[in-house]
Amino acid sequence: MHNDVSQILFSAQDLDRRVREIGADITRDYADVAESEGIVLISVLRGAAIFMGDLARAIELPLEMDYMAVSSYGNGAKSSGVVRILKDLSSEITGRHVIIAEDILDSGLTLTYLMKNLASRNPASIEVATLLRKKTKAQADITCRYVGFECPDEFIVGYGLDYAERYRNLPYIGVLKPEIYQ
Ligand code: IMP
Ligand code: MG
Repeated sequence: MHNDVSQILFSAQDLDRRVREIGADITRDYADVAESEGIVLISVLRGAAIFMGDLARAIELPLEMDYMAVSSYGNGAKSSGVVRILKDLSSEITGRHVIIAEDILDSGLTLTYLMKNLASRNPASIEVATLLRKKTKAQADITCRYVGFECPDEFIVGYGLDYAERYRNLPYIGVLKPEIYQ
């Protein structure tokens, strides 16, 4: 696995530190949420599950964790533009404070679709925490309240991010050698 990575962008320590910072920001920003409303942390499977697991433990407030699965990528390295719900939430989010934990914002197609879909269920609020935001030219205009790191427009893997379902368990985030997916 390690041999397929040309460069490490964010080490395990970098990720740990940044996720704790975001958790502290969320703890501060949501400290006054009423118990009757509550926070629902939603992750988009499968890539964001590792980030959400670490983020949840860095937030010192009561919260619920829920999962959605959508597809926009297949096994390729380029967005297909097609977003499909493969698994919907288990909880009701009406009147609740939703935080979407995303692994990476690339074209933004996935999040645009998801936010529209979740907003139609009338949550009290909806914000995005994305671990990474790719510096691409064509990115949907999405307001992410929490961004971990900006990253270059390359295909990256690790800490949840995959190529053809591999590399998710790398403890760091790195650039996948192009010869692996070309
Ligand atoms: P978007 O709809 O183009 O923003 O794509 C978002 C999803 O594509 C992310 O949640 C990832 O699952 C996947 N993705 C985008 N860029 C990469 C990458 O560089 N490596 C691995 N997965 C990626
Ligand atoms: Mg994803």
